[in-house]
This record gives sequence, C-alpha cells and structure tokens, in this order.
Amino acid sequence: MSSWDADPDLGDVVVDRETLRVRVQELGAELAEVYRDRPPLLVGVLKGAFIFLSDLARAIELPIEFDVMAVASYGSGTTSSGVVRIVKDLDADLTGRHVLVVEDIVDSGLTLSYLRRNLLARRPASLDICALLVKDGRQQATVDLRYVGFHIPPEFVVGYGLDVAERYRNLPDIRAYRGSVPVD
Ligand code: IMP
Ligand code: MG
Repeated sequence: MSSWDADPDLGDVVVDRETLRVRVQELGAELAEVYRDRPPLLVGVLKGAFIFLSDLARAIELPIEFDVMAVASYGSGTTSSGVVRIVKDLDADLTGRHVLVVEDIVDSGLTLSYLRRNLLARRPASLDICALLVKDGRQQATVDLRYVGFHIPPEFVVGYGLDVAERYRNLPDIRAYRGSVPVD
C-alpha cells in the first residue's frame, strides 16, 4: 500500500513501474545499437517526457546530448486541438544532427505531427520519434513512430511524468485517471 492507493481519483494500474523499467532498458539497448555510429541529440518534450527522458537517457550507453522544448496544445483538458504553441524552444541548432524526439504519449497525434514538421524544417541529418505510450485507435494524424514503449487503451492516464492539472507526475506507475478533468 502507498498513499496513492487512498486516492479515489486513481483507477487501475495500466503499466506498473517494473514493466516500465524493463521496457525502458530494452528501448535503451535498441537505441544504443541503432545510434552506435551517430550519437543522437535527444529532444525531450516537456513536461510530460521528463521522467521517461531521464530513465531512457541512462539506458542508452552512448555519449548522447540532450535538449528540451515545451509545447502547449490549445484545447480542453483531455483533448488536444492540433493547434500547438512552442512555449520553450530548443537551445541547440539541429542542422546536421541525428535527432531523437522523446515524447510521453501520443493521443490524436496532432502535437507530434506538428512538431515533426517544425523540427524537420531545421534540417537535421535524421529525425525519429520515441514515444513511451500510444493510445490505440485515437490517431487523427499519421505520425511515423519508430520507437514505442507501449500501446494502451484510449483512456486518460497519469503518472511517470504524465499529469492532470500538474498533479501525479511523480506517481511511479501509470494509472487510469477517474476524476473529473479540469478544462484549461
Ligand atoms: P495529442 O496531440 O492528442 O497526441 O496529445 C499529446 C499530448 O497530450 C501529450 O504529449 C500529453 O501532453 C497530452 N496527453 C494526451 N493524452 C494524455 C493522457 O492520457 N494523460 C496525460 N496527458 C495526455
Ligand atoms: Mg507531451
């Protein structure tokens, strides 16, 4: 039992911490192999990806570099509208770099399809996407997701970086959220 278990807004565990740990190690080993001869620049999409980014980076045994950007999608609390605003841009110049975008979750895919277009315009040598979670059956935009941690059912989840109104990011498992979602 942990204090999280007393929270009535938290539902079933969708991906537990041990399963997350094992899969992140696997992804790290795969990426270390793929990028062996061209160390990547990891681009984390804040804030949701920050825990995944830090675990994944340590699982890739290569001299990688990082940068982060923050985006906000306009829309209600649980759905994104596809209109994406860059809240914090990258510091790094992507020209000629092997960029690996690290994202927490793909729902409609609209955020990532915007980001891919935006980042490709900066002329990286390569650009691939690693998403921890993909919600099945929800994508409105086709996104070429080269690396995926888990496919999950289309319900709202929190934990391991994912929030609702900034809460639950430090929950170690990924769990369904059963509370009401505030509209932003
Ligand atoms: P998309 O543009 O619809 O693919 O939405 C992607 C973004 O919405 C993600 O990067 C998250 O920040 C957020 N998001 C989508 N689904 C969830 C969820 O179930 N929990 C928390 N955040 C989510
Ligand atoms: Mg995100």
